[in-house]
Amino acid sequence: MRLKEKILNGYIPAHLAIIMDGNGRWAKKRHLPRTFGHKKGSENLKDIAIACNDLGIKALSVYAFSTENWNRPKDEIEFLMALPSEFEETFKGQFEKHDIRVIFSGRRDRFNAKVIDLINRVEEKTQDRQGLILNICFDYGGQYELTRATQLIAKKVKNGTLSPDAIDTSVIENHLYTKELPPLDLLIRTSGEQRISNFLLWQIAYSEFIFTKTYWPAFNEKKLYKAIKQFQKRTRRFGGLKEE
Ligand code: IPE
Ligand code: IPE
Ligand code: MG
Repeated sequence: MRLKEKILNGYIPAHLAIIMDGNGRWAKKRHLPRTFGHKKGSENLKDIAIACNDLGIKALSVYAFSTENWNRPKDEIEFLMALPSEFEETFKGQFEKHDIRVIFSGRRDRFNAKVIDLINRVEEKTQDRQGLILNICFDYGGQYELTRATQLIAKKVKNGTLSPDAIDTSVIENHLYTKELPPLDLLIRTSGEQRISNFLLWQIAYSEFIFTKTYWPAFNEKKLYKAIKQFQKRTRRFGGLKEE
């Protein structure tokens, strides 16, 4: 595809994040139950992850379930909790072929044993893979991530292994879920909403943002390439001055 070749000549984001929003509205528009949208969304994640891997993106962080999504109806939550295991069953072969590593970011204390088992199993099984790191943010909240980092750091200070004066941005970064991932270059949110909804609050410091009206199940490869093309036109200054 021409567009793909074009963007491959430019800077490819090392770390891309996506707020996969709009599953429910996608389904509603088709007079289908919201859960149908979630299923479609999960299939779409497979395609987009493989497309990102093909482009040479190193890490893809996706927002799959927020710390606030527990406020949804019980049956929708149940459906969403069953998705990772279904995702693994259906796509493990393709992910293996593409050498994709999967990690999970988020709380681990509110899942049932089945979900915990699945997370541990998938992370362990894929840990040596060299392709894309697919970071699935599941029961994830940016405020929780920073709270947890603060607790971990405070414990080290208390037991004497860390001095308060030694706490700098890199110490904080090393206590985040994303510690192994490159800096976040680009954040895409689908569905037309223009807010962060508690995603990657620390990591977005100098990320570029792209908001698209497309609902997540309809966000295909071509739209991904277009977003990256748009990203490549941006001038990032990181607080400095643009070189003339
Ligand atoms: C995103 O789609 C998936 C999750 C939040 C789990 P939504 O379920 O939020 O879909 P809309 O925003 O209601 O259309
Ligand atoms: C953000 O979407 C969370 C995920 C995509 C998993 P929401 O649909 O939960 O966000 P709000 O409620 O519209 O802000
Ligand atoms: Mg939503």
